[in-house]
Amino acid sequence: MENCKTLISQLEETQILSKEEFAFLIASHSEEDAQYLFERARVVRERYFGKSVYLRGLIEISNYCANDCYYCGIRRSNETADRYRLTEEDILACCEEGYQLGFRTFVMQGGEDAHFTDEVLVRLIGNIKSRFPDCAITLSLGERAKERYQKLFDAGADRYLLRHETANAQHYAQLHPAWMSHTRRIQCLWDLKDIGYQVGTGFMVGTPFQTPELLAEDMLFIKELQPQMVGIGPFVPHHATPFANEAGGTVEQTLFMLGLLRLMMPQLLLPSTTALGTIDKTGREKGLMAGANVVMPNLSPVSVRKKYDLYDNKICTGDESAQCVNCLGVRIASTGYRIEESRGDAPGWNNRL
Ligand code: 5AD
Ligand code: FES
Repeated sequence: MENCKTLISQLEETQILSKEEFAFLIASHSEEDAQYLFERARVVRERYFGKSVYLRGLIEISNYCANDCYYCGIRRSNETADRYRLTEEDILACCEEGYQLGFRTFVMQGGEDAHFTDEVLVRLIGNIKSRFPDCAITLSLGERAKERYQKLFDAGADRYLLRHETANAQHYAQLHPAWMSHTRRIQCLWDLKDIGYQVGTGFMVGTPFQTPELLAEDMLFIKELQPQMVGIGPFVPHHATPFANEAGGTVEQTLFMLGLLRLMMPQLLLPSTTALGTIDKTGREKGLMAGANVVMPNLSPVSVRKKYDLYDNKICTGDESAQCVNCLGVRIASTGYRIEESRGDAPGWNNRL
């Protein structure tokens, strides 16, 4: 097999590698190869995005969840989780505050909570759109039937985030109970694309049982799906889950995957995630230097932030919070990039304003 630098150049040129080549790169690169990858990733990101970093305000609307993912702190079997759900007024107040702070995308994320029926969400989306017509609405509320995704799209939702978690069905079965279906999850992503959402998918780096070959499969699945956004972050163990004693993912592995994604899909929206900022104080800046171009500060009411506890030590105050967007701006400036106050749609996206 060729050396890693040659493969990185080949990826930049052709925007694809074989599964074997990806797996080899992921397993065998040196620190120097990684630095080379990040250099190329910055060149490629600047071609489409210049120095801009897009902002999304994350509103964690509920931590009730019907699912039981083995890695997740808000899984239904975690009886120690302190459950909450925001009211429509709470959510509108978050948007109001976010708007004043310069946010033009609101991401409503939550567990799979039956309280948020189509009716409740359609009304909420309508209200947000009429008060903030220049803002994009992103939903991240898990799996739903296609006609239900359609209703939310028709109500005005622009984007949907649903991480595939792993492209491999067998690996999916090692991370989830048997009644959660990999086929259904992947189908949801194709449905979302078909409806016309800007779609985000993604996976965790360093989950139990993950191998370089499995990460290579994630890369190839993403290439096939052609999403507009890909969210990746390290797996971070949560003390009240079946994976409490498993090892977490590393900063290095996560940054390397970010770099590969940037070269494979130059126009991708690639967030530097909270999980990366959690395991390393300057993780978010490092993510931007490895090819990421989006940050998603927390806009949830301070009173619930600690409760949206997906993994241990999740950062939710200080520079992580939307209220501190100016401090975040200073940190981002240290990387040579700058926050852009706009909806931050995918390049070439014909939005429905
Ligand atoms: N560590 C890191 N990320 C996690 N997520 C859930 N649990 C964890 C964890 N323990 C991620 C999943 C999910 C997203 C909302 O958060 O990938 O899709
Ligand atoms: Fe809620 Fe995974 S535990 S979707």
